[in-house]
Amino acid sequence: MAAIKIKGHKDGPYEISGEMSGVELIDANGKVLPVKGTIHLCRCGGSRSKPFCDGTHAKAHFKSE
Ligand code: FES
Repeated sequence: MAAIKIKGHKDGPYEISGEMSGVELIDANGKVLPVKGTIHLCRCGGSRSKPFCDGTHAKAHFKSE
């Protein structure tokens, strides 16, 4: 079993779950972002909380395929 699981949600974000201790999430400006438990990363480009998903993909009718 993988220590970390990355799952793409249909028409939604990437979900990252599993053993997150030691995982670093660093934004484009070099800021280290908190990682606690399962996180969801935006892949529609519309989130106002990038890199995290804020649900905007649903309003934007984002299609992952
Ligand atoms: S994937 Fe959810 S806001 Fe972009």
